[in-house]
Amino acid sequence: MLRTDDGHIIRLEDYRPTDFAIHHVEMLVRLMEGAAEVVTDITLERRPETSETAPLVLDGDELVLTGLHLNGEPVTAEQFDASPDQLTVRGLPARGRFVLRVETRLSPETNTQLMGLYRSNGVWCTQCEAEGFRRITYFLDRPDVLATYRVRLEADRASAPVLLANGNPMESGELDGSRHFAVWDDPHPKPSYLFALVAGDLDPLEDRFTTASGRNVKLVIFTEKGLSHRATYAMDALKRSMVWDERRFGREYDLDVFNIVAISDFNMGAMENKGLNVFNHKYVLLDPDTATDSDYAGVETVIAHEYFHNWTGNRITCRDWFQLCLKEGLTVYRDQEFSADERSRPVKRISSVHGLKAQQFPEDQGPLQHPVRPTRYREINNFYTATVYEKGAELVRMIETILGAENFRSGMDLYFERHDGEAATIEDFLRCFEEAGDTDLSQFALWYHQAGTPTLTITEQYDGGQLTLILEQDLAKGAAGTGTHPFHMPIRFGLVSRAGEDLAIEPVAGEAEIEGDVIHLTTSRAELVFEVGGERPLVSILRDFSAPVTLRHDQPREARLALAALDPNPFGRWRALTDLTGDMLRSASLSETEGRGATYDPAVIEALCRSASDEALEPALRALMVTLPGEPEIARLIGSEIDPEAIHRARRGALRALAEAGGPEFERLRASLSDGSAPFSADAASAGRRALRAALLPAVAIAQTSAAPLFAEFEQASNMTDRLSAISALVQLFPGSDETRSALDAFYRRFESDALVLDKWFTLQATAPSDGSVEAMERLRQHPKFTLGNPNRARALIGGFASGNQRGFNRADGAGYRWVAEQLGELDRLNPQTAARLATAFRSWRSFDAPRRAAAEAALRDLASRNDLSRDLSDILTRTLG
Ligand code: PHE
Ligand code: ZN
Repeated sequence: MLRTDDGHIIRLEDYRPTDFAIHHVEMLVRLMEGAAEVVTDITLERRPETSETAPLVLDGDELVLTGLHLNGEPVTAEQFDASPDQLTVRGLPARGRFVLRVETRLSPETNTQLMGLYRSNGVWCTQCEAEGFRRITYFLDRPDVLATYRVRLEADRASAPVLLANGNPMESGELDGSRHFAVWDDPHPKPSYLFALVAGDLDPLEDRFTTASGRNVKLVIFTEKGLSHRATYAMDALKRSMVWDERRFGREYDLDVFNIVAISDFNMGAMENKGLNVFNHKYVLLDPDTATDSDYAGVETVIAHEYFHNWTGNRITCRDWFQLCLKEGLTVYRDQEFSADERSRPVKRISSVHGLKAQQFPEDQGPLQHPVRPTRYREINNFYTATVYEKGAELVRMIETILGAENFRSGMDLYFERHDGEAATIEDFLRCFEEAGDTDLSQFALWYHQAGTPTLTITEQYDGGQLTLILEQDLAKGAAGTGTHPFHMPIRFGLVSRAGEDLAIEPVAGEAEIEGDVIHLTTSRAELVFEVGGERPLVSILRDFSAPVTLRHDQPREARLALAALDPNPFGRWRALTDLTGDMLRSASLSETEGRGATYDPAVIEALCRSASDEALEPALRALMVTLPGEPEIARLIGSEIDPEAIHRARRGALRALAEAGGPEFERLRASLSDGSAPFSADAASAGRRALRAALLPAVAIAQTSAAPLFAEFEQASNMTDRLSAISALVQLFPGSDETRSALDAFYRRFESDALVLDKWFTLQATAPSDGSVEAMERLRQHPKFTLGNPNRARALIGGFASGNQRGFNRADGAGYRWVAEQLGELDRLNPQTAARLATAFRSWRSFDAPRRAAAEAALRDLASRNDLSRDLSDILTRTLG
């Protein structure tokens, strides 16, 4: 059942096209209880450059071959070899098209990997990216093989009244007995990873959309029975995405129907299958009572992301999986831009940067480091990473910064025009921008090839009315060994007066080019001199995080405090304040470790209080500014010999200092921000007010001597956002109290039968800072509602603990590590992909102090020594230990 690790490495330099092309695929899929039969007619043709005797070698994965025909005749036993993971056919026609009929028999009910054809709560569905199609039939299962597909589905009408596949519906009707059929046709050539089918008893939510050129598209979101009312926001987000892609990029939808199906069991967030997106129901189902504002924002983003893939991913796909960032980095960039336009640009940018630093930076600075465009992999499933997605998006954003908005748009237009219908590479993509911007991007391309986070060091000198900026970049030689040449870094900046105004930028001398407010740093060191007059300006550098770097700017504390209060660039204000808070918490943690009591800079605390009540800023931005960095964030600032207990104490101390300084004002603010009895609205402004109320809650609650007021707030909450912020504060600040217990019980009783809310209930407890957390985790593991079979549930508990409970997971006695490793070993037998992803929580194990390092290593080695590990998990463990 399990694939054993064969140590095989796939290399970019080995890429060559297939010997055969596939023109068309006709499939008949018969779905029955306990089994499925698949008959696939593949129209193939030997490529002109292929030798006349070369055999056809098709990929498989755990397949059972039940029949094989060539142009209608059975293929004889001497002509082929079949194993579960390969089918080789010899003696095929030297030229011209031929049809190979491949028959397979599948068992969707026992497919717990959730790759290929499986059943989720009774619904038949597929997941083919990256290499799942080969679990349905033998095929040239790689993204550069593009074909049209026609699919006929047959199933029992009672268990599967809805039958869906890619493309447009052609015909449907009754069959003998209680069965029926439907035929779907997808006229757009596509790679097999975009294949999908769904069959089940689902409820539709229907709508329509007319494209700019007048195509009338039927939109349907299918959910499990009785849940379609929870898809209305997703539908609205879909229509807004369609409008946005027409306006911003001139891209229209290209089929008569667009279907989305929400299912319970899914390894990832969602999948962009042509005309039939399949979603983890977490990214579709919402209502105010069960979903938080961040769930709403998440749905909006993921709906947009998958829709945008229709052009960036589907119409133009990837030549090979090394090019994954071609579709993912670009599509994340597009969904970020969509959210920025739909909501608030600075708030979106700050959240994206926050996420990048929390997820991608540690990946890029630890053992799982790899370039945005890798050159080798053992298991492609493990390359759906923050580096490929989020850093990949940053690279597209830098191209836009370097070229300017207009040339960037021309480059995108050229890309769409030139590569539509093709499987492309990063080199193809970059060439479009080189031509559109009439510029050379060969140095810029290093961002795709060199792994690691570069450091940008800024030194200021002010003398006689002149300001000198010294810029230095450095890329430490990383584990990936991919080179350390200087990058082309676009550095957006401003020189700010004491009155909070951007000064005109007038360079007198410089070793780097400046265009507008962007410095193009292309060497490892450059000096720039500006004429600024009698007052030393405040240097607001790396505005909007214009390059994904670690910034070292030895800026006077006083200048940072000033920027936190008056930088006209909102991102700059946030960054100045965050840097101050980060420094404060870092040194407080180090003091705690050394047993000296921590102190908290009153000026920084005051700056935090001031930004919370600054009416000139939108509430969502104030919420981001006043939120103290989380424990993992403080750990990253410390970098090595991390002591999570000290960090926990230091952060608590800072929260108390904040409460002392701002408590009454925060209470007043919270009251003034309340929507009272007004009905819930999910719009960005209302969500921003709730976010600020929630951000202030911990400081208000920590000052209270009892949990009773928080409990009252929990009970009075009229939506999930307020309810969850109250119960989180109870769990975090009053872990052992009766009120916390009662709130958790009440929450459970109310939402017991709602899978998505129950996930929150598991996560809440997994992140609780109680000393016996591992024992508590084991109790939750035994809870009747817990199952490793559902990825969301496994992530809620195991991921919630490993990534959301720094103290518990990194307990000095190693019990946290051992518990997680044990769960991963078990999960791996069911679902290797999800186990491997959760295992990345160990990626920073070397940054902790010696006893923890030893304990983590022992747990990892123990798990890695098992002989039945999947390739997915063993790849992650080997690299994490390597
Ligand atoms: N391609 C999907 C996305 O980014 C992610 C995904 C990858 C889903 C692999 C399933 C499997 O939208
Ligand atoms: Zn994607």
